[in-house]
Amino acid sequence: MNPSWRPSGWEAPPDSPRRILLLGASGFVGGGLWSHLAPRHTVVGTYATRPVPGLVRLDLRDERRLAALAADGFDLVVHAAGLVPLEAAEADPALAHRLNVRPVEVLLDALRGSAAKLVLLSSDNVFDGTRPHYTEADPRSPVNVYGRTKVAAEDLLLAEGGHLVLRLPLVFGRGPWANTFLARLAAPTTPARTDLVCAPVYLPSIGPALTRLWHHTGVVHYGGADVVTRFELMSRIQQALRLPTRVLPTRGPQPRADCPRPPHLVLRSTRHRLLGPGLDAALAHLAGGGL
Ligand SMILES: NC(=O)c1ccc[n+]([C@@H]2O[C@H](COP(=O)([O-])OP(=O)(O)OC[C@H]3O[C@@H](n4cnc5c(N)ncnc54)[C@H](OP(=O)(O)O)[C@@H]3O)[C@@H](O)[C@H]2O)c1
Repeated sequence: MNPSWRPSGWEAPPDSPRRILLLGASGFVGGGLWSHLAPRHTVVGTYATRPVPGLVRLDLRDERRLAALAADGFDLVVHAAGLVPLEAAEADPALAHRLNVRPVEVLLDALRGSAAKLVLLSSDNVFDGTRPHYTEADPRSPVNVYGRTKVAAEDLLLAEGGHLVLRLPLVFGRGPWANTFLARLAAPTTPARTDLVCAPVYLPSIGPALTRLWHHTGVVHYGGADVVTRFELMSRIQQALRLPTRVLPTRGPQPRADCPRPPHLVLRSTRHRLLGPGLDAALAHLAGGGL
């Protein structure tokens, strides 16, 4: 990894060997975590519908199999699987609950009494986006179904104690196999909102951040350094990668994507000083083919 885009203040991560279960390794964020963790640790990763060589198949709804896998002597279970597109969650709240909440209950039951720690990837969508920024201590008030499932999953984990909720903002970058982010820039035109503000994190930085943060319990935020509108972010990425799409500024919800979105989401931490790399460094790495 190119150290030039590592945020300042990052020493080499304490890469002690650990046996890790990575649920959702076939996904966008899970793939980024896999790229960082698999060369350094013993990692078992899972997929559901997108087979990837080396990963094992698991449907979160197969509770017996999920419980048996989780109880198989891991030090760390990183949960990066579930229903993520906000519109899909909004359209089917029962499925969103089934995939985003119930598996956490099953995992906690399976891990109870063991030394394994569960790390749940959560989201800035637990907040309503009305404050200039959010720290771990701020009250949650989600405005969409996805955010509500994340709050419910967080509550299960926090009630148990000893585990970690890692809240992430919008993640951008190129995944090793799933490219749900760059797919947004695949059409000839890319509508992007000027009234949604975010502090996105660059995908390859999340694995190193996790290894710096996994000793925490409770809630930890990992935010991006730069605060931008969605339109600025998409335009910068389009330019950096010279993508054949025209990024169009829009305001308000898109006609077909009628999902409430928090307008201003900036994650900050009072528990540590890590921030993701700035956009300039991240985009230079991305344009150089960085994974
Ligand atoms: N992307 C972001 O900007 C962002 C921001 C904040 C937090 N997060 C969190 O990061 C995590 C991963 O998000 P992502 O963007 O990587 O989503 P993604 O690309 O859609 O990946 C979702 C993962 O979940 C798996 N999955 C879906 N349904 C499943 C099922 N029924 N059984 C087992 N596995 C299932 C998928 O497997 P297959 O692909 O093989 O079906 C995939 O590995 C989520 O917890 C999300 O809330 C993401």
